[in-house]
Amino acid sequence: MEVDLQPSADKDRAGLTYRTIGGVLDLYMFTGPTMDAVVQQYTSLIGKPFLPPFWALGFHLCKYGYNSSLKLKKVIARNRAANMPYDVQWTDIDYMKEHLDWTYNKFSFVGLPDIVRDLHSHDQKYVIIVDPGISNTQTPGSYPPYDDGLKQDVFVKTYNGSNLVGKVWPGDTVFPDFFHPKAADWWYRHANTFHNTLPFDGLWTDMNEPSNFVDGSVSGCTSSKLDNPPFVPPNLDGSVLSSRTVCPSAKQFVSSHYNVHSLYGFSEARATMQTLQKILGKRSIVISRSTYPGSGQYGGHWLGDNRSGWKDIYYSIPGILKFQLFGIPFVGADVCGFGGVTTRELCIRWMQLGAFYPFMRNHDALHQKDQDPGSFDKEAQDMMRSALELRYGLLPFLYTLLYRSHVDGLPAARPLVFQYTDDSAIQSIDKQFLWGTSLLISPCLEQAATSVVSFIPNDMWYDYYNGSLLPNTDLYVTLDAPLNRINVHVRGGSIVPRMTPAVTTKQMRRNKFGLLIVTGHDGKASGELYWDDGEVLDPVETQRFTLISFTLEDRTLNNKIEESYYKPPEGIVLGNLTVMGVTPKPSNVKVNGKDVNFTFNDKTEMLTVGDLAVDMLKPFIVIW
Ligand code: NOJ
Repeated sequence: MEVDLQPSADKDRAGLTYRTIGGVLDLYMFTGPTMDAVVQQYTSLIGKPFLPPFWALGFHLCKYGYNSSLKLKKVIARNRAANMPYDVQWTDIDYMKEHLDWTYNKFSFVGLPDIVRDLHSHDQKYVIIVDPGISNTQTPGSYPPYDDGLKQDVFVKTYNGSNLVGKVWPGDTVFPDFFHPKAADWWYRHANTFHNTLPFDGLWTDMNEPSNFVDGSVSGCTSSKLDNPPFVPPNLDGSVLSSRTVCPSAKQFVSSHYNVHSLYGFSEARATMQTLQKILGKRSIVISRSTYPGSGQYGGHWLGDNRSGWKDIYYSIPGILKFQLFGIPFVGADVCGFGGVTTRELCIRWMQLGAFYPFMRNHDALHQKDQDPGSFDKEAQDMMRSALELRYGLLPFLYTLLYRSHVDGLPAARPLVFQYTDDSAIQSIDKQFLWGTSLLISPCLEQAATSVVSFIPNDMWYDYYNGSLLPNTDLYVTLDAPLNRINVHVRGGSIVPRMTPAVTTKQMRRNKFGLLIVTGHDGKASGELYWDDGEVLDPVETQRFTLISFTLEDRTLNNKIEESYYKPPEGIVLGNLTVMGVTPKPSNVKVNGKDVNFTFNDKTEMLTVGDLAVDMLKPFIVIW
């Protein structure tokens, strides 16, 4: 089936063309009326997104081709030495022995389990890649994932019932049929055995379209109609439906591969998340290349192989925003670019933009020059660190947004048009985006630029860093964007929970919270904080979380404890307040009736209060 947008001069009359050769077409209409409501209705149907563990919101680092434990250790060490906020280290297929799933190369990656233990002892996590292709050419008895899979009969079959053989990284491979009732257990068993050796914390499921280096199988496909339908979408190489995947006539437990091809990654994500939860007994992540409506329940996504170019940094924004609509809010693009050679400037800009991807991973292709923050000069490192600290400081807010995605289906990052629907100029904006309804992110996406031309919607927007109010324009304005700055503005009326950053989320969680309070037109503002232990399974469903709402009115800030199931021993403590748009200057600030020290910037009308220790699990009141 091919689906195409029909352009129309009249924007209200644009159409969709479905060109299909059969099957059952179910059409659902989500009537909104708001864009939020459309996404909510859609995700109610397909399943609401999973809530990632808190650590997964930190910075992830990866490269295809570390090639050795020596290099891996060097990368870890230099990023620690540079004090980068850095939670998760990944390894790509080069950690494996001959690219075999659930193995590692004991020669080139000698001591890998110790490296993982060292990551854990530094409060860091470890994620590995697994591909669906299982080698079928190992000596019998030497590779349990294949031998056992054969016994359980969990592999995709050809039309005649033999196991279909394709070619992927390890050479000839068979493909697990994740719809087979025994497949999830088989997958779990081998993951679990391997986990006893190499205690990974999450899984990266690549090549799961499923991708195949030959068309169909090593012996081609059949002459049947399934393999040779009367119409093939023109984007496929060689115009065969089996192009770089398995034969449509192949048989899976529930149906022909023809019918379930697009569900391969979905079925793998489901089995893989089950596997992780069973092994770890905690929340984890599956980051999948292939997704389908509903995949967001089981994990997140990265946008696949991009290039280290200015076009690609730009395209990542619409890519990320689209996945917010698809119910997969935990998404990111390869920061600094995968293929091709990144540059210092591009990588700095990309770390700044990536700080606002819901899922932030710097990933690099084989044979490309290093692009981890620690590989750059000190000045570049400083700029990357401050982008990471900006992100970490905002993680309580991002977590709260992802909680809202999980319970209400709302997108975390969003196009401006979600908030400012009446303005047609806003519909096509794809170089800026929002976090929730509060932050406006305007990254610099052009080489050698020192300013960025950004659309400022008709609202109150305060500079995130110094609290100065932008003129209310509803126009494009030029904002300063020196290399060390990403423009971020906060909407009047928002209360954003923050935290003092640290080098890992685990260490950061010991710090106090802060609140960024931004006065709206009517002097009011509101916001909320979702908090749990960061990794417990099903915290919402099993009531192991806390939800606190905040309101500002008449220069008075109040909290309301909506739910308080989660009460950590260290408490949920407010350490500082930043209030923007305070006029006139306060003569005093009282927290629960007591005077506290404060500073006030007359020029930007920003009030700051530090050194607090307010228990947010009890009602509190701040007046200025
Ligand atoms: C393709 C993936 O898209 C890429 O991210 C990965 O590095 C390579 N496969 C190697 O595993």
